[in-house]
Amino acid sequence: MDINESDKSNNSNVMRTPSFDRISLGAKTGHNLRDRGAVLDQRGPSRWRTADALKIAYDVPGTTMPEIPYNFPVIDQENWQWDSWALRDIDGHTITYNGWYILFSLIANRQKTGGNTIEGWSRRNDFASIGYYYSRTGNGSDWKFGGHVIAKGANKRSWQWSGCAVMREGTADIVDLFYTSVNEDPPESVVAHTVGRLCCNEEHVWFQGFEKCEDLFAADGKHYATFRQNQFWDFRDPHVVRNPDDGQIYVLFEGNIAGKRGTILPTTLDMGPVPAGTVEPDSGRFSTAAIGIARLTSDASKGDFSKWELLPPLVTALGVNDQAERPHVVFKDDMTYLFTIAHDSFFSGVAKGPDGVYGFVSRDGLFGPYKPMNSSGLVLGNPTSAPKETYSHFIDTEGFVQSFIDIVPAKGSDPEQQGDYRIGGTLAPTVRLVLEGESSYLTETFDCGEISAVYEWTEVQNHNPA
Ligand code: FRU
Repeated sequence: MDINESDKSNNSNVMRTPSFDRISLGAKTGHNLRDRGAVLDQRGPSRWRTADALKIAYDVPGTTMPEIPYNFPVIDQENWQWDSWALRDIDGHTITYNGWYILFSLIANRQKTGGNTIEGWSRRNDFASIGYYYSRTGNGSDWKFGGHVIAKGANKRSWQWSGCAVMREGTADIVDLFYTSVNEDPPESVVAHTVGRLCCNEEHVWFQGFEKCEDLFAADGKHYATFRQNQFWDFRDPHVVRNPDDGQIYVLFEGNIAGKRGTILPTTLDMGPVPAGTVEPDSGRFSTAAIGIARLTSDASKGDFSKWELLPPLVTALGVNDQAERPHVVFKDDMTYLFTIAHDSFFSGVAKGPDGVYGFVSRDGLFGPYKPMNSSGLVLGNPTSAPKETYSHFIDTEGFVQSFIDIVPAKGSDPEQQGDYRIGGTLAPTVRLVLEGESSYLTETFDCGEISAVYEWTEVQNHNPA
């Protein structure tokens, strides 16, 4: 096994941060199995309707990201850093490992993309791979770049896009990495899996393994559009989690409603109760975002993640939005909160909304039915003064929201006109949400790249080291 260790950190430019009120180590919370999850196959997808999206309001304090100061710190001077996910357990709790916080990010070498320019930043997807960072404090001030995660040549396609990293239950140090394996030509996007071991000492964190990548599943054309059906299709961003209701393992992912692009017409059910005279423009039929789900049918306890059953989408946004990226879920107080991110440019029809994270809530478990949170679906959007400042928000089980900085306009420059701006490619200030019933409230702002862990993995005593 290769040890993918390197130490190219450059963190000198980082501000001091107030510390989180961290939840004490060893306090592993588990969900008791409840018995309502079995009714899954009778459901249809819940709808994010035009009528809901018409309620999206800009610049409301509880659902708007704070303005980011122009002089934000940069965590990694060598690499663009964007979509990120912390090491966690199968129930979604962020963990520390021997005291280390560990974060996975999509990265691209800044020079290789064309340098620290808007052109370079825009080309990042064509260089994307998964890197990792580690920190003693988790407060954002001491992230060290550890290197690439997947061994050279192991990914079967051109790029590595978003996913999640899960400590395998019952093991001391095994990490299951689920990610999107993306090909340029032919265009393919497949959910993939690779396994490694986590190693650390007092100074460093490194990995062994991640040398073999296996395809798990691809779009089927029945529940989720394939490239042949829809050349603007999306099929990516696996989020693997255990459903507390039935104890089974599921994966959420971004998809599009199956069918030939442009032929799926929004109905009055997709529109919902809109004001009289509202006419859905023709563009509505090109918005077919779907939050996808599949169930693991092979034996995870044996490390077998090879078999999945694709199920109908949880939520569709026909006529509203064509994008449901990085869907993820938080189970809290008997509620299921389902989040996804979308750009303003992917809204269509009469719907409009900011770049940000949108949410749906169910009182009946993972399979819904879901209602848009805060009535409209908007959970956190960028302010109109800085409409591109952050993206790719990920909300953890404790309500901490992590995202990356995209483009911050200089004070006084017109954000719509692309005047003076600073490109991010680094982590945004973490914020915290209170989730209460069907609503969310932004309550706290922390410094850039802060994360918080729920417990320390090595203190959980149920290990049976493999
Ligand atoms: C979100 C996203 C993901 C994708 C990745 C590619 O920012 O578009 O859907 O996996 O970024 O960079």
